[in-house]
Amino acid sequence: MSAPPLRPAPATTAPAAPERAGRNGAGSSRHGPSPELAAFGAGRGEPYVRLLAGQDMASLSLRGADGSSHRLDAGSWVRPAGEADLTVIDRATGPLLDVGCGPGRMLHAAGARSLPALGIDVMPHAVERARQAGGLALRRSVFERLPLEGRWRSLLLLDGNIGIGGAPALLLRRCAELVAEGGQVLVEVDADADLAVVGHCTLVDDDGRESSPFPWARVGWAAAAALASDAGLVVVEHWDAAGRHFVRAARAARTTAMREARSAIAASASSTAQMTASAMP
Ligand SMILES: C[S@@+](CC[C@H](N)C(=O)[O-])C[C@H]1O[C@@H](n2cnc3c(N)ncnc32)[C@H](O)[C@@H]1O
Repeated sequence: MSAPPLRPAPATTAPAAPERAGRNGAGSSRHGPSPELAAFGAGRGEPYVRLLAGQDMASLSLRGADGSSHRLDAGSWVRPAGEADLTVIDRATGPLLDVGCGPGRMLHAAGARSLPALGIDVMPHAVERARQAGGLALRRSVFERLPLEGRWRSLLLLDGNIGIGGAPALLLRRCAELVAEGGQVLVEVDADADLAVVGHCTLVDDDGRESSPFPWARVGWAAAAALASDAGLVVVEHWDAAGRHFVRAARAARTTAMREARSAIAASASSTAQMTASAMP
């Protein structure tokens, strides 16, 4: 991907509101105004709903405004947790919050290890499937009020979910707020360590069915580490498994020394943590 001019994502801008007809008010969020933008893969040809409805799809692609495309292994979302997923569960402690849980394979994997887990997702079909599979799931945006705020021991942002809302800095700050002191955020990141792009894209299936545009982001591990530091998290581990990449970011106790160290890190990291506004993906 060619590098467009740097433009930091505005930190104070509310994340794109997923469509939430009905409950809790459409797109309502207590973390700022919510523009009426589509959620991940929603609208038009509804490729994501078709996947959730059980259509046989091995992959979906993110398509950028410039026609570029990035394949997603969407088939894995509707299969049981795989080898790479289990490396995340190996590091998790409960209670665990799976943000953007989709049909809930991680909830199932957590349950198999007796970890108490809750999934949240804005897509009703996803929540329904997660519940049918025996998971505990709520139809809720990560930016809305949630149970156990500040008390989750582990929070998952997998399958590219660092892209939720197209505002990764804001999302990581929200995640830091949700986890307990000493808790951790487990994030799947892009293979390209320094990638940090935000923009609008659509989701397209192999038959060309395309969603409405929605805001999204892609972030590599080095860029995620800088953003995490700004959010009050410290990346303590980076690993890869079965071709996927992850970071583990811990929320430390907010001592004065920590706050001072964090400001110093944030000052030096902010130069590398700038998000590039891009024709996603
Ligand atoms: C890339 S898919 C991830 C799939 C999922 N992790 C799985 O295991 O199937 C992104 C997911 O995030 C959900 N999502 C999008 N915006 C969200 C938000 N603001 N809060 C919670 N979930 C959201 C989407 O509905 C979708 O299920």
